[in-house]
Order: sequence, then structure tokens, then C-alpha cells
Amino acid sequence: MSPARVPAAPPVARTARQLRESVTAARRRGRADTDTNPLRQGLRLERVPDPCAFVLFGATGDLAHRKVVPAIYQLWRTNLLPVEFSLVAVARRPYTSEAFAAELKASLEKYSRVLPIDEDSWAELAKRITYQQLDFADDAGFDSLGQKLDELDAKCGTAGNRLFYLAVQPSQVTEIVRQLGRVGLDKEVRGAGWRRLIVEKPFGRDLDSARLLNHEVHKVFRESQVYRIDHYLGKETVRNLMVFRFGNGIFEPVWNRSYVDHVQITVAESIGVEARGAFYEETGASRDILQNHLLQLMTLVAMEPPSSFQADALRDQKLQVLRAIAAPDADQVRKNVVRGQYGPGWVQGEPAAGYRQEPEVDPESETETFVAGRFEIDDWRWSGVPFYLRAGKRMPKRATEISIQFKDVPLRLFRESTGDPAPNVLAMRIQPDEGIMLRFAAKVPGLGLDVRTVNMDFAYDTSFVVDSPDAYETLILDSLLGDASLFTRADEVEAAWGVVTPIINAWAEMPPPHFPNYAAGSWGPEAADELLERDGRRWRRI
Ligand code: BG6
Repeated sequence: MSPARVPAAPPVARTARQLRESVTAARRRGRADTDTNPLRQGLRLERVPDPCAFVLFGATGDLAHRKVVPAIYQLWRTNLLPVEFSLVAVARRPYTSEAFAAELKASLEKYSRVLPIDEDSWAELAKRITYQQLDFADDAGFDSLGQKLDELDAKCGTAGNRLFYLAVQPSQVTEIVRQLGRVGLDKEVRGAGWRRLIVEKPFGRDLDSARLLNHEVHKVFRESQVYRIDHYLGKETVRNLMVFRFGNGIFEPVWNRSYVDHVQITVAESIGVEARGAFYEETGASRDILQNHLLQLMTLVAMEPPSSFQADALRDQKLQVLRAIAAPDADQVRKNVVRGQYGPGWVQGEPAAGYRQEPEVDPESETETFVAGRFEIDDWRWSGVPFYLRAGKRMPKRATEISIQFKDVPLRLFRESTGDPAPNVLAMRIQPDEGIMLRFAAKVPGLGLDVRTVNMDFAYDTSFVVDSPDAYETLILDSLLGDASLFTRADEVEAAWGVVTPIINAWAEMPPPHFPNYAAGSWGPEAADELLERDGRRWRRI
């Protein structure tokens, strides 16, 4: 994961007055830009969150260093955080605030998507970082965290607003939530600030554990205070999926079983499990990607138009889709779901070890690194339209794509011509090379009647000459603004587990799989191709 390097903006002023002036100047600049490039209109965010303390649990971990803090820095650098902001880093290891800030800076040098680091801007943010050593089981530590937050309200003007970000092992969530409740850090007193909780995925490991976790969280926080992250929902192209569907009139009439033959969604990664062998052994592709990223993409493709983009209006519609996905019984799992595990091979010209040879992986492991399934949605819009979903590690390339494959014409008038045209496809490239492609038939210039399929392509990077925010920037900003629309609600998470748990349970009852069953650098096991061939279809070549 190498961050794209784009030039840093000039240093920004940070006193309240200077901030206002710089925001006004930035807005003026924005207007000047939009004068010359109409596609830039509306690209600037104008809301700045309330003053607040951002309490980051698991601050020494990989996620905090790679994603969360770079996102906070980026929001700060672009004036999207309030001046009255404080980052309270919480973890077990001892550090002084200065030493910890220096470590964060070193990580930013590696992971920030905008380099070099703007020294003035970082210096201002670093002043707002405090480190709090804390053992999650230690009552006294949480008492002093509460006191520290009160002091920060007085010193930095954070106004009692607190966001607790849990970038920790899933097994630690319940304990931290219980402690926050014990010291009353969950309580929202009218006029004395809001309290919010961000929880990272995986949220549970099956339906029962997700229900239990929701129950534990709800003992302390109200659902409206809880923000469950699935970072795919913050990706620019995923958000654009909603704009594409509901901001355009011409697609909605054909977005249903009368016109769509089937839908394919692929989340392919060329990387293996890297240093996360121990985590992945417990997770596998079905829990790591299918339960969340893939099913979330499916809901956005399949949902009915919401009445608004208010969080609950949107999430109600997504929930309807998840509830309408037919949960497979053991026979259907055998027939419609394929699992795979990579063996040694070659990826992009480099030799790659097999999964069982990766660090911290059992040499006899039965964990799947690939999953593909055929799902159906039992509702009026989609009845009978298969959704083929697949995700895998060590695929030939990194590519996430949704393709809507339309039905063929009723009469193939051009079947005699060279290059009988294939049915229309609308492909949305979520990453990389973000864009949208429509495939249709065209006449080859000439005296004869040759027909070919051609692609009409929209590419983000050439159409919008602006840099896209990272998903974490979008999601952190939304949570600070109190907008939960891109976060998953308790019932949604449970409904998604309702689809995946029967699969995991059926596998547990089956004889051991013949793993490894695909070579690193291939598109997964043959059975995944057969899954579509059986229906007279093929995976789209990505
Ligand atoms: C995470 C998974 O949620 O998503 C990882 O835990 C995976 O295994 C990652 O690599 C993929 O995210 P992205 O944004 O690189 O597609």
C-alpha cells in the first residue's frame, strides 16, 4: 500500500481568526477553480465539526498509524477540524506525549497520502496530542482518563464533546465499553457535549457473537451514538454508486430483473495475508470481506431508492436487501458457495509463498483465502437475478469491480456479422483506475456490416482533476459531524451475519477441504469458474 504522493498545500494559519480567514480564502479559491472547471463545483466541504476530544484506543497499533492518524492529519491540514481539537492517544505501552507524537510523525512520513508533511501544520496538531497509558482492565486508568478529558475541556475548549475510537482487538471492545460506561463517559447531558463510539470491523465472528456484542454495547451507548466502520462505505467510488443510481434518471428504469441478467462483484487483492497471519487464521475471507465489504456493495447496488440520505432512511433500505437474501442451507452452500486457499505461485512476476507457509499460519490450515458465492435476493426487483460475489487474496491483481450484466437483445439481428455483439455491461471500477464503463455494440466503419462491442469510459482521474480523500478521512469527518449514514447499524450487521453464518456453519460440518486449491497469482479455484459456467456465464475479465 504505497500512498500516492501529491504536493502539499501551503502551510495554514491556525488561530481562530486566521482560520476563518484561511477558510474564506480557500472558499474563494474554490470558487475561482469552479469558474474554470465546472466538474469541480460542489467539491468543497464547508462544515467544520464541533470542538471535540478524539480519544484513540489502540493508538500504538497498526491501524492507528497507517490509517486513523494519517486521516486526522489530513483533515487538520485542510482546515476540516476545529481549532479546539484534541487527540488523546490511549494504549498500554508507556510513552510521553512528545515521544508518542514523534512516533506518529514517523508513521505519517510513511503513510500520509500527501507528502512531504507540512511542518507548520503538523506542529500545530502535535501540540494537541496527549498520550495516556492505560490497561483496559484498570479502573483507576479510566478514572484518570475521565479527569484528563475534563481538564482538556477547560484547557483546549473541547466543550465536553468526545469521540471514542476503538482501533483495538475485537475481544477488547466489550471491556473498554464497560469501563467507559462505569466512569460515565458515555453520558450525554443536554448542552454539555456529545459522546460517540466508533467500532472497527470485524463486528463479531458469527450471528450469535454479533448479537452479544451489540447487546453489550447497548448496555452503555444508545445506537445513535455508535458508529460501526466498514471502510468500503467511505470509498469515493462506493459513495458515487449512490449518486450514479439516484442522481441520474436513465438507469433506474432498467435497474431490475426485466433488464439485468446478473450482477458480479469482485474484491480481488494481489497481496497475501502479510503480517496478519494470526488474525487471518481466525477470520478467513468469508468473515474478513464477504460479511462486510462484499455484502455492503451488494446492498448499495440492490437497494430501493431511499426517501432521503438521512442515516436511517438509507440504512433501512440496505437492511431490506440483507433480509431478502436467501440464507443458504447446507446443500445450497455445497452447490453455490466455493472456498479456496492459495498455494505457492507467482504474483506479478514475483514468487509468492502459499498461505500455509505464511508466518503465524498453521501448516495444515483450513482457513479460506478465497470465497465465491451465488446469491439471490427474494424481492420484486431482483427475483431470479443471480448476484455472483467473490473475494480472494493473492489474485493476479488488485481490483474491486461491480458489473451489471444486462440481458441480451430479444432478436440477435447481427448474429451473422463478424463479431456478434455481446450483451451490454455496466462496470463500476471501485479501485484502482476508478471509473465507470458502459459496453455496447457499434458498427465498424466500412462498407460491410461488421459489429463490435466498444467501451465508453468515465475515469475519475482525468474527469476530476482533484485528489480523492481516503475512506478514513471521509468516515472520521462524518462521525465528527454526527452523520452515521456511511456506518453500519446493529440490525444491518446482524442481518449480514444471518447470510454468512449458515455458510461458515455448513463448512464446519463438511469433510476437510482440499486445500490449497489455487495457485497464488491465479483467479481462484476452478470450482469458482464452474459456479458460473453451470449457469452459462463467465466471470468478467478484469
Ligand atoms: C480489510 C481487510 O477490511 O480490507 C483486509 O481486513 C483487506 O484483509 C482490506 O486487505 C482491503 O481494503 P482495501 O481498501 O485495500 O481494498
